[in-house]
Amino acid sequence: MTDTDIQFDKSGTLRHFLTVEGLPRDILISILDSAETFLGLGQREIKKVPLLQGKTVVNLFFEPSTRTRTTFEIAAKRLSADVITLETSRMSTTKGETILDTLNTLEAMHTDMFVIRDSFSGAAHLISTHVPAHVSIINAGDGRHAHPTQAMLDAFTIRRHKGDFSNLRVAIIGDILHSRVARSQIHALNILGVPEIRVIAPQTLLPNQIKRLGVHPYYDIEKGLDGVDVIIVLRLQLERMEGQLIPSDREYFRFYGLTPERLSGARPDALIMHPGPINRGLEIASSVADGEQSVILEQVTNGIAVRMAIMATLMGRQSPSPREAD
Ligand code: CP
Repeated sequence: MTDTDIQFDKSGTLRHFLTVEGLPRDILISILDSAETFLGLGQREIKKVPLLQGKTVVNLFFEPSTRTRTTFEIAAKRLSADVITLETSRMSTTKGETILDTLNTLEAMHTDMFVIRDSFSGAAHLISTHVPAHVSIINAGDGRHAHPTQAMLDAFTIRRHKGDFSNLRVAIIGDILHSRVARSQIHALNILGVPEIRVIAPQTLLPNQIKRLGVHPYYDIEKGLDGVDVIIVLRLQLERMEGQLIPSDREYFRFYGLTPERLSGARPDALIMHPGPINRGLEIASSVADGEQSVILEQVTNGIAVRMAIMATLMGRQSPSPREAD
């Protein structure tokens, strides 16, 4: 069974969120619309709605994370779920227990939803095939494969600024080869109707068959940025690189770093995005990361609302009406 098939239960309801690849546009739009209703909650004195009251969420992070781990935890708490977050250093997997035995142990505590991050591509899929029908799995990033909730929060951020997707040119710059974020973003943006997606990278950091994903590759950053509406910068995924794929950090920044001069080739209102963590002076100049066009921190804030929307959807809960949420 593919990731796409396994995400739905027998009645055709979305049960897991493992990848955006192959999901219908309606589902992505419904998640984005639902996230809109949750966004205002962060400004309220009591930042909670009772949608997941009585549900138990376990965040299992076998790989480091700042943004995804904390925003999932906050999202679950704002939905009134009981939530615990476990990281590798505190788990019995360090004493030889398998990931599936860990999962079975936590499932014995009547967990309703697991949020999984792992360096192994396919970890969330594997786990989704071992849980009972009432348990949902969310992929919080698996190896180089997918990071679907990041792609959704990026799409949400783009829609909030640009209105819709149908006239946009989006450029993704950096280590596309090792990036689960890029893969998920490309799938999401294609499904949502972005007509032109460009990927900009040295040849060593682009997958061979990248055009099959429906993108236009550029090796020259100035040409790739010409007239774009959105620029997504990615970090070099050094932890996944085998061998020397770039001559040096200095050379990489010289040829592919996003600087104010290069930014001037994009549209004047181009958004600057980055999933984080950012490496200043390596893939992006500090003045661009902190500049007026940057929405990098807004992406983090939006991540809470989008993750709330995804969790509520999988648990079959309607998001509150805008009045209830405001
Ligand atoms: N964007 C992202 O996945 O960041 P973290 O690794 O900090 O979760």
